[in-house]
Amino acid sequence: MSNTAEIKVDGKSYELPVIEGTENEQAIDISSLRGSSGIITIDPGFKNTGSTKSAITFLDGEKGILRYRGYSIEDLAEKSNFLEVAYLLIYGELPDKATYDTFVSDITNHTLVHEDVKKILEGFPSTAHPMGVLSSLVCAQTAFYPASLDPNRAASEVDLSIIRLIAKMPTFAAWSYKNQIGHPVNYPDNNLNYTSNFLKMMFATPAEEYEVDPVVADALDKLLILHADHEQNCSTSTVRVVGSSHASMYASISAGINALWGPLHGGANQAVIEMLENIRKDGGDTKKWMAKAKDKNDPFRLMGFGHRVYKNFDPRARIIKKAADDVLAKLGVKDPVLDIAKGLEEEALNDSYFVERKLYPNVDFYSGIIYRALGIPTDMFTVMFAMGRLPGWIAQWKEMRENKEPIGRPRQIYTGSNLRSYVDMSSR
Ligand code: CMC
Repeated sequence: MSNTAEIKVDGKSYELPVIEGTENEQAIDISSLRGSSGIITIDPGFKNTGSTKSAITFLDGEKGILRYRGYSIEDLAEKSNFLEVAYLLIYGELPDKATYDTFVSDITNHTLVHEDVKKILEGFPSTAHPMGVLSSLVCAQTAFYPASLDPNRAASEVDLSIIRLIAKMPTFAAWSYKNQIGHPVNYPDNNLNYTSNFLKMMFATPAEEYEVDPVVADALDKLLILHADHEQNCSTSTVRVVGSSHASMYASISAGINALWGPLHGGANQAVIEMLENIRKDGGDTKKWMAKAKDKNDPFRLMGFGHRVYKNFDPRARIIKKAADDVLAKLGVKDPVLDIAKGLEEEALNDSYFVERKLYPNVDFYSGIIYRALGIPTDMFTVMFAMGRLPGWIAQWKEMRENKEPIGRPRQIYTGSNLRSYVDMSSR
């Protein structure tokens, strides 16, 4: 379909092309607007602005659809595994058996990190939040692999950096936790699969045997799939913008980890559990907290509710809610905050404030409950999200570089003082 849009400013018309995606979403292409008219568009928070064309993830927030490379999240969560999904996101197709085996074996063979990473780790006080440690260790890879700083490397060298980062991420993640609790770090065990290896590095101690529970490893693998990509969200946009300056992949993804950390984004999973705990300690009166969330003079928000793009339901939240029930039943865990969560959800779904604003539980509302059941400590929740989102960040960074996208550099409308003369200090 060929279509155009017309913008009229001061009686003058400007015709702009309308472009269409493969799922028929439409956008007015304003890339020629400033050149022809001197006018820019403004859209704080980019609520109506597409920053790129991308072939990785399709999301329809009204219908609650999420697909990676055309495959539905429901199908992938049920039938695939995290490393296969990682390959799919990064390289665009599901791998055949030989390709998959090579990908997994390459990752398995790069799990060990440079011994000096331990020295960096030891420099952090135990008060360091694991997300800060994780982003630092990922960025520090630029020091161990300085060739990665060259923006014009061959594709095979970029592939090696990708393998290294996916392979070492669980090691960095587990070590950031060990540093926090003052335990010795565990080295990777290449006899184990991706998630089991992570769990062993996280939970094993020299003092006793640790057996990975397959229920826990499978549940974690599913959670990683659900988090693996989510098109142009805050952290992914950060990765693309940082990478657009031709900063290295490690530096770009380290920046993405920092963006994810905030409580309005990935940090919400930690904030949800802290909120549910507070409600429980406060006597469990969900109505009181609902009222606080609706009070515009109170900064409290119902964490785990609302989403920039999902306006009916978050498909990831549906899968996670069911998985939470399954995992808690299989592990025989009874978590009192689950009842508070279900109560809050029920009330919010019937409350006009939440209904009118289309605020529904998002992926983070129930993920913290599963993480708790799996024994993951609260301030490691967002690290789990980062491990899951890694292939998405890599895929988006790679696509941005391969498409030779220009440096990300928005414009602004200036609202400060007009030109004025410098006033000598004695006269101020
Ligand atoms: N509790 C109470 N009110 C809310 C909430 C909430 N959780 N979320 C949005 N609102 C209200 C908001 O006050 C505003 O009301 P009004 O129109 O009267 O001013 C309206 O709903 C629209 O909200 P917004 O902040 O303009 O929407 P946004 O698209 O900018 O923000 C959000 C989306 C996710 C940041 C926001 O809903 C929020 O802060 N939620 C809680 C944090 C959270 O759970 N974040 C995780 C998101 S999912 C994981 C991820 O992908 O990052």
